[in-house]
Amino acid sequence: MATVIKKISNNPGETLEIGKWFAGNLQSGAIVCLFGNLGSGKTTLSRGICEGLGIKDFITSPTFTLINEYQGRLPVYHFDFYRIGSSLELYELGLDEYLYGEGVCLIEWPEIIMDEIAGKKYDIHLTWNVESGLENQREIVITEYPENGQVQP
Ligand SMILES: Nc1ncnc2c1ncn2[C@@H]1O[C@H](COP(=O)(O)OP(=O)(O)OP(=O)(O)O)[C@@H](O)[C@H]1O
Ligand SMILES: [Mg+2]
Repeated sequence: MATVIKKISNNPGETLEIGKWFAGNLQSGAIVCLFGNLGSGKTTLSRGICEGLGIKDFITSPTFTLINEYQGRLPVYHFDFYRIGSSLELYELGLDEYLYGEGVCLIEWPEIIMDEIAGKKYDIHLTWNVESGLENQREIVITEYPENGQVQP
């Protein structure tokens, strides 16, 4: 059974705090897939997670570089696959070594490789309900999968 936790963030600072809190649970090798539209807060949450892991030099989203690497309590690989046309490019980059290594993988726009990830640990869905008129509110739903990494349908 997966565990689901839902949080509401009312501003970017709260999203950072949620990221810091979440980082406390992270263990070596965790794969975290971050879903949500443009501007939903994936990078902001990633920044908070990095801060929580003791990383002080968070850059920004690796939109053009595909990956940023950090060293905190654990190694962190932050990916952004928004611009990727095909997952083949990612295997040329050595994606498997990152995914199945010792570090934590934070993956924005993971859709292109979803079918190819084994042993995923967390999905995080960020939602910005534009019609609500609450410009700074985001819903953050965290799903944790069981230790054996079997992703439930
Ligand atoms: N509660 C909130 N949490 C996070 N960001 C918020 C919140 N309220 C407003 N914002 C704003 O929304 C934007 C979120 O940007 P961010 O880069 O984190 O999104 P993203 O999901 O990574 O987008 P992209 O798909 O372009 O990578 C920022 O400009 C931030 O200031
Ligand atoms: Mg981003």
